[in-house]
Amino acid sequence: MAPSFDNETSLFNFVVRDGYGVKGIVDSGISTVPRAYIQPPAEQINKSNATICEIPPIDLSKLDGPDHDRVVNQIVRAAETLGFFQVVNHGVPLELLESLKQTAHNFFGLPAERKAVYRKEVSPSPLVKYGTSFVPEKERALEWKDYISMAYTNDDEALQQWPAECRGDALQYLKTSHQMVTKLLEALMRNLGVELDDSKIDAFIGKKMVNMNFYPTCPSPELTVGVGRHSDMGTLTILLQDGIGGLYVKVPEDADMENKGEWVEIPPIPGALVINVGDMLQVWSNGRYKSAEHRVRTTSTKSRVSIPIFVSPQATQRIAPFPQVIEKDGVARYKEFVFSDYMNSFFGNAHDGKKSLEFAKIN
Ligand code: OGA
Ligand code: NI
Repeated sequence: MAPSFDNETSLFNFVVRDGYGVKGIVDSGISTVPRAYIQPPAEQINKSNATICEIPPIDLSKLDGPDHDRVVNQIVRAAETLGFFQVVNHGVPLELLESLKQTAHNFFGLPAERKAVYRKEVSPSPLVKYGTSFVPEKERALEWKDYISMAYTNDDEALQQWPAECRGDALQYLKTSHQMVTKLLEALMRNLGVELDDSKIDAFIGKKMVNMNFYPTCPSPELTVGVGRHSDMGTLTILLQDGIGGLYVKVPEDADMENKGEWVEIPPIPGALVINVGDMLQVWSNGRYKSAEHRVRTTSTKSRVSIPIFVSPQATQRIAPFPQVIEKDGVARYKEFVFSDYMNSFFGNAHDGKKSLEFAKIN
């Protein structure tokens, strides 16, 4: 039966409740953007004036050689300025990266009924959630994006509960990136005067989630966003993007670099992974590391996929700026809180730039 989008409720029911997603609307053959997806002018993305971030990717293989200190400096400097950088020779096999992108296309190419079984209300697994937009119930305008989210507890549960179409690749991705994640974190922590021994690993990166994002083609990309302005809530995000482009980062106003306050595009680089600082690293570092605001544009020509791994502390973890950093800075900029409370606040509100961090701020 052809869907009817004659009012907002029928559209919402089709896309969100019945699990057709944005892909379902596009496949139905629409030629204009439904009103629910039209962003307020201030959120619309003007492609023509974007600067491309030309900073070369960091070669992580050099962390083990004579250039160790120089590479650590590159990582620290990137975290302190833009909060975003790209890495190559990261230890994740390049064939796996190719396979992951294909797997994401295959998954979202499944009939809607096969994906809809993982909607949060009905998912057979608490680890798996398929959805669309970020928090559709709360958003003024919906995001032009569908996703599947797979939380990691252990290998057995992942292999039993994650969707059969994605589990192999997603688990490999998680495992082969682990060493890189610990090395990056080790460098960032040591620079703050904190040694990352095994007892602290769970406190910093005890929880991981692999997502697959699907951004269908859009008839009028200038009216919509793939993801609205936000920062990521956890420790670090590892992101595989395909060759389509459209990921933008806002250069922090207080960054010691060019283009302050402007949006720059993180260009696709074959074989590279994008790394970004999450809110928790900003808190632990008392604001020294930047959890940068970012967003994604849509395109009319080809659907885009991206595959992030969100690395976070465990839900029960207490979070606060490190004492040695506060001592140096002379002031604590963030309060102490439990990570699960931060998560509830994060997922309880629509994306709104860096507002998520207000929860932790001491004014
Ligand atoms: C995210 C995100 C960027 C992208 O999922 O949090 O920012 O390129 N994704 O898809
Ligand atoms: Ni993000």
